[in-house]
Amino acid sequence: MAAQINPSILSADFARLADEAQAVEGADWLHVDVMDNHFVPNLTLGVPVVESLARATDTPLDCHLMIEAPDRWAPQYVEAGASSVTFHVEAAAAPVRLAREIRAKGARASMGLKPATPIEPYEDLLPELDMLLIMTVEPGFGGQAFLDIMLPKIRRTRELISKHGLELWLQVDGGVSEATIERCAEAGADVFVAGSAVYGASDPAAAVRALRTQAEGAIAQASWACDH
Ligand code: DX5
Ligand code: ZN
Repeated sequence: MAAQINPSILSADFARLADEAQAVEGADWLHVDVMDNHFVPNLTLGVPVVESLARATDTPLDCHLMIEAPDRWAPQYVEAGASSVTFHVEAAAAPVRLAREIRAKGARASMGLKPATPIEPYEDLLPELDMLLIMTVEPGFGGQAFLDIMLPKIRRTRELISKHGLELWLQVDGGVSEATIERCAEAGADVFVAGSAVYGASDPAAAVRALRTQAEGAIAQASWACDH
């Protein structure tokens, strides 16, 4: 099974976003962190920047909405050009309706879980989703240390995906680097967000390639992927 590597532009130079998108040629998606200073204590960018970025790159945009009221705002990110939109379940009033609306508008629907949010209450919602995002740091900032205590949740989520026979991608976000990506892949992740590990490298495109090689090696060895 192929691993997908999604560089997070949170660690890029915001004054040169088009160039920074170019710098990670070969990445599967560009991860765009939208923060509203309410859901998380940080402020980044919104719909107009996503619109411009979508015009500036051929790499599909994976928008991670760390915002209040995603029911109201998420559809606008699809219209702005995002190919995948992640809302946080902690903020969504009606996650099923919202996932259906994102899909109906033509994007992949994804639901994010903060570290303290368990997956089990959402088992019945999984068929409504194209991806689940498991935060492996508290959302809000790049460059934080990976939370190893999230590995059991990744493992349990992968078991639920297998149990239901779903084609659901499992994304990890936060502290993913050459030191941690294999643990994530072994536990069940197949989509990897990396901010500082990519944009902090002297050659970001080479960092993407190195992370992909490591993740694919770990997935090939992983018990959860043995039937793929
Ligand atoms: C954090 C964001 C992440 C962040 C990851 O709240 O959701 O996408 O950019 O950055 P690193 O990879 O540096 O932990
Ligand atoms: Zn993110």
